[in-house]
Amino acid sequence: MSTNTNPRAVSVSILKGGVGKSTIAVNLTDRLAARGNDVLFIDLDPNGHASMGLGFKEVYRDGDEDIGDVLLDDGDAAPADVIHSTEFGFDVVPSSKGLEKVEDRLRNSMFSDVRLRRDMVEPLLDEGVYDYVVTDSPAYRGKLADNALVATQNILIPLTPGNESLAGFERTLERQIKPIRKQIGLDILSVVPNRISNRIDQRNSDRILIEDLNENFGEFVPEFARIGPETFDRIDDGELDELPKPGIRDRRAFTKAFGENMPLAHYDPNNDQVAHLDTLAATVEEEVGE
Ligand SMILES: Nc1ncnc2c1ncn2[C@@H]1O[C@H](COP(=O)(O)OP(=O)(O)OP(=O)(O)O)[C@@H](O)[C@H]1O
Ligand SMILES: [Mg+2]
Repeated sequence: MSTNTNPRAVSVSILKGGVGKSTIAVNLTDRLAARGNDVLFIDLDPNGHASMGLGFKEVYRDGDEDIGDVLLDDGDAAPADVIHSTEFGFDVVPSSKGLEKVEDRLRNSMFSDVRLRRDMVEPLLDEGVYDYVVTDSPAYRGKLADNALVATQNILIPLTPGNESLAGFERTLERQIKPIRKQIGLDILSVVPNRISNRIDQRNSDRILIEDLNENFGEFVPEFARIGPETFDRIDDGELDELPKPGIRDRRAFTKAFGENMPLAHYDPNNDQVAHLDTLAATVEEEVGE
């Protein structure tokens, strides 16, 4: 349940690289749009991976204006100047190779954490230009990642099997979520296990991740990754004919879709993971408000 009056916006964020932030952010945006919403995707990662995966390579490298021209004091761009449309029914503010400098310059600006909220997300949502805003964040703590959390007040956290990912989750809780919660409130919408591939009747990193999340963060685990202690007991006793396949599964189609500059559901509409992405979109609608 929501603890505050949140903007209709969500950040996909964790202080760990390569766990699927960009993949899930882009595909969540796509599914929210497919459900009839007007959605804006903002790529705040200077690495620009999500923007490249949507075909904005040239804008990333050579675009005239970037989000810095909206957020920085000497910038003279309006939000509309940095918004691009896509053939998928949602809009994008692409990253740019200059975004690292924007990060540096924000560090020395007044009210540097609220810029994205004040100058972009709030006006666009208030004026009804968009129903939802989704942001992709860098894997490290900084002004851009903080701006995303302050602007959205909702976070969706992807995790992959392995200790490093769980450690990244803990860092995110301690260093990002708790400090912002003290100031303005921040809801965890969902903690999403991603790239699961192994059987969960054996003691492997996939099983450990799924079991750990269900035990400790059960309320944030999406329905397609939820497994209770009794079910684990039955799995271990060999009582289930068919093993559950929790989480977003490891599917090459995710990377292929990226290479073709498309969200998964456009590249491979019949992919079995699309339903899970739809579930995440439904969660955003339910928790953040329709
Ligand atoms: N469920 C999945 N199945 C298969 N491959 C996946 C899946 N999710 C993500 N990937 C692949 O894993 C790689 C890392 O994913 P992604 O770029 O989304 O992570 P990230 O957290 O945004 O990384 P970074 O911190 O570098 O920005 C990409 O090649 C992506 O295609
Ligand atoms: Mg990324």
